Amino acid sequence: MSPYEEVILEHWRNPRNRGRLDKPDLVGVEVNPLCGDAVRLELQVAEGRVTDVRFDGQGCAISQAAASLLTELIRGRTVAELREMRDEELLSALGGVIPTRRNCALLPLRALRRALGG
Ligand code: FES
Repeated sequence: MSPYEEVILEHWRNPRNRGRLDKPDLVGVEVNPLCGDAVRLELQVAEGRVTDVRFDGQGCAISQAAASLLTELIRGRTVAELREMRDEELLSALGGVIPTRRNCALLPLRALRRALGG
């Protein structure tokens, strides 16, 4: 199994931060129009920094595992830092993603950008 497959499977089986926040400050939902898969991200923000985060959604293992991993990457960061977050950071944290599955892996990052208003 490749490192990429191991990361995906691990997060798919043991999703981090799945659920909803009581009163999220920022919410972003993104749907992949090609398949209908969806990711919802909710952020709690205090003094410009993410203090808590949850994701929810349904879809392929890659999109949901990437959402789980993304929640770990963004907790504690500032909103300004997240606005600068590049696709490559998430793709490389996943262990590299084959080109045909990039859209799946980046679905949660697009949800984050919606939450941030961009
Ligand atoms: Fe729909 Fe992966 S197949 S996001």
